[in-house]
Amino acid sequence: MGKQYVDGIADIILERLNIIDVVNSYLPLKKTGRNYKALCPFHSEKTPSFVVSEEKQIFHCFGCGASGSAISFVMKMENLDFIDAIEQIGDRYSLNLDEYLVKKYDIKSHEEQEKIFNINKLAAKGFYNVLKNNSKASEYLINRKISEDTRRKFGLGFAPDQWDYIYKNLRMKYSELLLEKSGLIIKRENSEGYYDRFRNRIIFPIFDIRGRVIGFGGRVMDDTLPKYLNSPDTPVFNKSYHLYGMNFAKNHLGDRKQIVIVEGYMDVISLFDKGIKNVAASLGTSLTDGHGKLIERYAKEVVLLYDSDQAGIKATRRAVDILSRFSLKVKVLSLMDGLDPDEYVIKFGKDKLQEMIDNSQDAIEYMLDYYKEGLKFTIKSDLIEYIDRIRPIFSTISNSIEYELYIKKIAHETGLSSENLIKELKHSKFNKKETDKKDEIVLKLKDVKLYRRLFEIFIHERKYFLELIQKFDFDELKYKLLKEVSEFLLAHEKFEISDAIDVLSLEEIEMLKETEDNIEYVPVKNGLKEVEKIYYELLLSDKLRYLQKIKEESQKVLSNINNESPIYDKTKMKYAELQHEINTQIADINKKRG
Ligand code: UTP
Ligand code: MN
Repeated sequence: MGKQYVDGIADIILERLNIIDVVNSYLPLKKTGRNYKALCPFHSEKTPSFVVSEEKQIFHCFGCGASGSAISFVMKMENLDFIDAIEQIGDRYSLNLDEYLVKKYDIKSHEEQEKIFNINKLAAKGFYNVLKNNSKASEYLINRKISEDTRRKFGLGFAPDQWDYIYKNLRMKYSELLLEKSGLIIKRENSEGYYDRFRNRIIFPIFDIRGRVIGFGGRVMDDTLPKYLNSPDTPVFNKSYHLYGMNFAKNHLGDRKQIVIVEGYMDVISLFDKGIKNVAASLGTSLTDGHGKLIERYAKEVVLLYDSDQAGIKATRRAVDILSRFSLKVKVLSLMDGLDPDEYVIKFGKDKLQEMIDNSQDAIEYMLDYYKEGLKFTIKSDLIEYIDRIRPIFSTISNSIEYELYIKKIAHETGLSSENLIKELKHSKFNKKETDKKDEIVLKLKDVKLYRRLFEIFIHERKYFLELIQKFDFDELKYKLLKEVSEFLLAHEKFEISDAIDVLSLEEIEMLKETEDNIEYVPVKNGLKEVEKIYYELLLSDKLRYLQKIKEESQKVLSNINNESPIYDKTKMKYAELQHEINTQIADINKKRG
């Protein structure tokens, strides 16, 4: 995978599209004056505030603030990331994007891929129709408590008990070589000819994130071995990159952007069927960096929900190792009694499982506990061994409060002092992750307007900018926009938006650009006071946002600590102090702002 397109691919695509057509294919647009209107698809409303401008080729919702180009519209509507969205648009509007691929992407192999996608699609349709007319297979799925809807959604099928069902049906259209490459047929070893890979099995089509069929899994309906057969890696299928069910799961990640990772086909389908839809499977193989990347593109939190057998425990540990390298919150849930998620949800119901998922254990805690096994802290060599084992875990903790918390936990358990422990853990190459990613801050519309007004003033009446920057330290804002823009304005006496491209983020540029485009500038009436007032408003909402964040974080952190442990109270106090401090600052700002 790892496809890359030339810079500016977005513009190239946008030039060849009309946003009106794109949006219209999802929701009916009504022309009103120069623009088009509709009910906003991104929030619920009764009167349309969703406007599409043909002239500017953008959409904007005056209700919820969603806005962007035709590409961002598709990204939002389909929950796709940029690359997947442009490829989907490319397919739909027959734009040949191949010519814009970087790194001499092999066109011939791309054509071959397209053919294999088609073969897979035809095969999936065939299997699906066979299942509809096969009562034994249908019964099997009913016994496994899979509803008609879910069966359809996942395109489940049945491969007839026949050596040449696929071969016979597809060889007229496609060469044997290509069919073999698709993994659906296999060359006979000692004689001429080919035979179907999947026979007399329930078929699970495997979809990529865009919903194209990339491969298949097939399960026997009895105890014959092997239980499952899978497509081999093919030009369109790579096990260490795809996650089964991810195409559906990505639309159900919720506000927490949480995904549950399970081991098997049936776990995904069964959980989805019962209403836990943010679920995908690594299909029995161990999790790889490729999976990590895919998950990171869509989710913020991962719950590893593997079978509770020895193999599952091992896979969990490996997965924690892999996933801790990504900016993901990793959690672990082990079910008791050796049940797998499918069996569990059938036995105990959706609500119970959901509750377990909500309360799943922090992966770090899981690992720290895991490494304790077989060690006695009263034995000095065991203690040293333990510290060695957990050192790598500590090097992955980037949140300082979390770090301290676990130090205290381990200190408590081992009897070592926190100071010594920290020293010991740092002994080797302890380095804090730098990727303490910039917090994604979503501004309220009100703040956006305030920022715009402020920049407008800065640009049109520069003296206010210079006065404000002397009086205040923009660093006191968590949201760095003002700081970054002001640095830019300081360095550029004359304002040219094109200069900003290297320095500012797109979001910032967009904000400035709108400011620049607005010709009807209303000059400041009440002097510096008026400008200061805007600043205080922004500062205030910045503090409130921070306070909110701290509150949420404290809840999250505290929910992971046993509330009878001494760490719990200390942590709670620490957060309370922090909140108190922010509250004091807020009161102070309120006083100044009058
Ligand atoms: P499991 O044996 O846990 O199967 O293997 P399962 O998903 O619970 O299936 P049911 O409930 O018995 O129908 C987990 C995953 O490992 C892969 C499959 O992807 C399976 O879903 N697997 C397992 C294979 O590829 N081949 C096998 O023979 C067995
Ligand atoms: Mn199972």
